[in-house]
Amino acid sequence: MCGIGQLSRRLLDAGQHLSPIVAALHLWPIGLWSLSAYVCRPFQCRTNKVVDMKNIMVAGFAVLLLLSVSAQADVNRMLQEMAVIERNTALLQAALNDGQERATLCVHCHGNDGNSKRDYIPNLAAQNSEYLLTQFEHFADGTRSDYVMSKLAKGLSENDRVAIALFFSSQTVKPRQQPEADSEKGKALYDSLCFACHGVSGHGSKQYPRIAGQPYEFLETTLMKFLNNDPTRQNSPMMSVIRNLNAQQIKEVAAHVANMP
Ligand code: HEC
Ligand code: HEC
Repeated sequence: MCGIGQLSRRLLDAGQHLSPIVAALHLWPIGLWSLSAYVCRPFQCRTNKVVDMKNIMVAGFAVLLLLSVSAQADVNRMLQEMAVIERNTALLQAALNDGQERATLCVHCHGNDGNSKRDYIPNLAAQNSEYLLTQFEHFADGTRSDYVMSKLAKGLSENDRVAIALFFSSQTVKPRQQPEADSEKGKALYDSLCFACHGVSGHGSKQYPRIAGQPYEFLETTLMKFLNNDPTRQNSPMMSVIRNLNAQQIKEVAAHVANMP
């Protein structure tokens, strides 16, 4: 009787192998068609007069879930591809060359070597490759948004993303002139609240971004976004971490992080 449930499950299975865009293009119409077919059924078949809202909602959620499941599967697959490349010297060298070539769109803002040219733009140099790759996905799927980055990320192919992430990750952060000096208060905040995830040196790890040496303005603005639950950086664990800080403490900890080598 409940063909919708089966259909949704089949859609979900199919979605694991499709990119989200392909899935969206191909499966939204099917989802809509099956919903409308189900809504119309009572009119065609007199024995089933009640439209079962629960099944309709389940089908709707399944289509939504399908999109996010397939996006997550894509990220995981790209992360695996990247790990394979990183372990093979020849593949890595080829990817670094590719990445440098494809980064021509990016260097205008992020710098030739990933050291940003403006204080509101983050360095990509020495950033963890996994974090870079995941951020492209976040910009592309709207979890994170920025006028330029959201558009650019959608236009990058999977190979571009992997190569560009590896290229910038292999670059070195240069010391930059920071507008605010470090302070004991800033260091104390970092040592009690931040080091556990971003590391004693602020260089992060696979799961956590490098933050050391980022431009002060980018750090302060980003932390204020987390403090204000800004929708341009949704679902970030940072929101609960700094919930109890005030604007002055954010300035202090940002100045400390900016001045970390
Ligand atoms: C017009 C300037 C501009 C260009 C061009 C640009 N970016 Fe960005 N990028 C930004 C800004 C501004 C941010 C910070 C957005 C925010 O605050 O969330 C950013 C953020 C990022 C981030 C997140 C870094 C972090 O530490 O959170 C990545 C990754 C990134 N850009 C990669 C790229 C790549 C790859 C390209 C080229 C394909 C590119 N950007 C081109 C301005 C630019
Ligand atoms: C529980 C682990 C955790 C703790 C503790 C933590 N962070 Fe984070 N932080 C993260 C994760 C995960 C991200 C990346 C996810 C995201 O962008 O929202 C992040 C992102 C950031 C970013 C944005 C980086 C970028 O390039 O876009 C900044 C800045 C930052 N953290 C600063 C701090 C500071 C300062 C503290 C201490 C006050 C701190 N974090 C404590 C986990 C943590």
